[in-house]
Amino acid sequence: MALLIDRIGELVTNEPGCCARGHLTTLKDAAVVTEADKIVWVGRSADAPAADHRLDADGRAVLPGFVDSHSHLVFAGDRASEFAARMAGEPYTGGGIRTTVAATRAATDDQLREAAGRLRAEALRQGTTTIEIKSGYGLSVADEARSLRIARELSEETTFLGAHVVPAEYASRVDDYVSLVCGPMLHAATPYARWIDVFCETGAFDADHARAILTVGKAAGLGVRVHANQLGPGPGVQLAVELDAASADHCTHLTDADVEALAGMWTVATLLPGAEFSTRSPYPDARRLLDAGATVALATDCNPGSSYTSSMPFCIALAVREMRMTPAEAVWAATAGGARALRRDDIGVIAPGKRADLIVLDAPSYLHLAYRPGVPLISDVVHNGVKL
Ligand code: NIG
Ligand code: FE
Repeated sequence: MALLIDRIGELVTNEPGCCARGHLTTLKDAAVVTEADKIVWVGRSADAPAADHRLDADGRAVLPGFVDSHSHLVFAGDRASEFAARMAGEPYTGGGIRTTVAATRAATDDQLREAAGRLRAEALRQGTTTIEIKSGYGLSVADEARSLRIARELSEETTFLGAHVVPAEYASRVDDYVSLVCGPMLHAATPYARWIDVFCETGAFDADHARAILTVGKAAGLGVRVHANQLGPGPGVQLAVELDAASADHCTHLTDADVEALAGMWTVATLLPGAEFSTRSPYPDARRLLDAGATVALATDCNPGSSYTSSMPFCIALAVREMRMTPAEAVWAATAGGARALRRDDIGVIAPGKRADLIVLDAPSYLHLAYRPGVPLISDVVHNGVKL
């Protein structure tokens, strides 16, 4: 079935080839035709061919679906009281991760599946057509494997994060836990994972442990991503670049050497402003990264502790207001940037041959995503060629 979306006031194409880093490209008075799960035609609305179905955009803006390249959707319970304590002055330390691990282990498969599915549907309604989902709240062989099995039912972009924190039962045996992660846990996770990630941070895993885990994951065929430099300066970013990670995520506390290491590299700096919002922390310096020539992606980090939002528009608004990104840079980072962070060239762009993942805004321009924060502007979503 072919679908024609015509009379588009502003079409964000992120045309491949012409946009190096953060250069959003647009067409006025445009149309797009999709056939099955692919885009087959892009051009002027007046020249558009007929199709089986038509969606009249009536002057509204159309964008590639958002690519949320960092989320932790498989968990049980919430940590609203921890959030309230933070808003009353408590710092965020990551210590609450173990609370969610206990709740997640106690949940049934169906409870986890239902909760993660609800969050996936919530994100899709807000325009997220691709979402990466991490494990990391199981931290036993069986619980990590089932988290990834459930994540895989919702996304092809799944990440093994057995090295999120050291679980309580291994508290004085970190080396033993690292061996478990590198051996039986990795073995059980690999069938369901595309990526491996480590929380490389004081209080979680140091550079040596993180390198060991990521190296063995890479040898098992997984792509590398790193939770890097979130709570303080540290080795995460340098390690990500050293291992040719697809992405160094958070990048909140960077030295000049870290920024230099990311500049012009394939490793994307994925910024997660929902985490700084929800932990009342200083935002990462997106301007410094962009000006140095790094590729920047934006993602939600959706999780019950540090960032319980599934909204990419919210992250775009924060990035523009708080991180000195232009609206064009932020929208590019939330679409094409996310695709780069997942090493994908079939999403995040609108061009013939690419995936038919599109959103129609209830606004004439992508600018409104930052200009009208908190307003539900996503009026239609086309996912894999199917209009929701
Ligand atoms: O990306 N920092 C590590 N992991 C998550 C937080 C997890 C939690 O607090 O439950 C993050 O912020
Ligand atoms: Fe995270």
